[in-house]
Amino acid sequence: MPVHYVTYKGIKFPPAYNSVHSLSFAHNEFLVRDDDVFNITYPKSGTVWMTEILSLIRSHGHPIWNQTVLNSDRMPWFSTRLGLEAALSYPSPRLLTCHLPRHIFPKSFSHSTAKVIYTLRDPRDVVVSYFYFCQMCNSYEDPVSFEQFLRDFLSGELPHGSWFEHVRGWMQMKDRENFFFITYEDVRRLCHFLGQNLDDDAISSVVQNASFTAMRQNPMCSSILLPADIMDQTKGQFLRKGICGDWKNHFTVAQSETFNRIYQEKMRGLDRCPFYLQ
Ligand code: PPS
Repeated sequence: MPVHYVTYKGIKFPPAYNSVHSLSFAHNEFLVRDDDVFNITYPKSGTVWMTEILSLIRSHGHPIWNQTVLNSDRMPWFSTRLGLEAALSYPSPRLLTCHLPRHIFPKSFSHSTAKVIYTLRDPRDVVVSYFYFCQMCNSYEDPVSFEQFLRDFLSGELPHGSWFEHVRGWMQMKDRENFFFITYEDVRRLCHFLGQNLDDDAISSVVQNASFTAMRQNPMCSSILLPADIMDQTKGQFLRKGICGDWKNHFTVAQSETFNRIYQEKMRGLDRCPFYLQ
């Protein structure tokens, strides 16, 4: 079945969760609070992983909240139809999630001290993960082939827009005090940024409970509870492999060379480029 994406400011969004109204409200009217903490990612870059970490840090490493409350209730997706309501009634300090690129993020953020955690992942692993996810999730068009999907990723045609523009837009904030970017396992630095000084046992508990194995066993974050009309669990698992470098099992040599060339072109001039592709 064809999917009718919602389009906002030229970017396609999956229709099950988004509407032009929810995106426009998030962009123009959503009031950011100074003590908000935002978990921001391009899709398939570690969103659910960071949600687990931030909730565990908030709970000083105690896993009960993570094990009993759905991740989308712990950190609402404030730019979506359902998430907006949850975000508005969330008592401060809020933990919030989104995939929004910088230019359509709430305008009220510009003058606030709210904190942003931006999680990145090797874009080649992002595109592989995204390819499998689109096969499972009914709110995305089924990819025709990996080759076509990769082309669409490189030209910024996929839902949520261009990875390159997402990263470039957010990385412009890299020198701001309320911006933190992370690629992996930098939990202690993250606690410090959040002003939550956890002892060694609490840090170990955060890392352990946010591990791939622990997260896969936790129905509150594994997506296993999502309704079948949204996510077809017979086609795979949301927490699929959780490894670095799965792209090597999918890219041909020619695709890898093309990716590297386009990556160098599109990321040129970006001070502190987050990935140096080899
Ligand atoms: S989404 O749909 O955009 O919110 O998805 P997102 O959570 O950003 O990305 C899902 C991918 O992240 C992997 N993941 C992990 N890898 C390693 N360790 C941990 N703890 C972990 N948690 C999530 C998940 O398996 C998906 O990647 P792939 O490559 O498909 O396995």
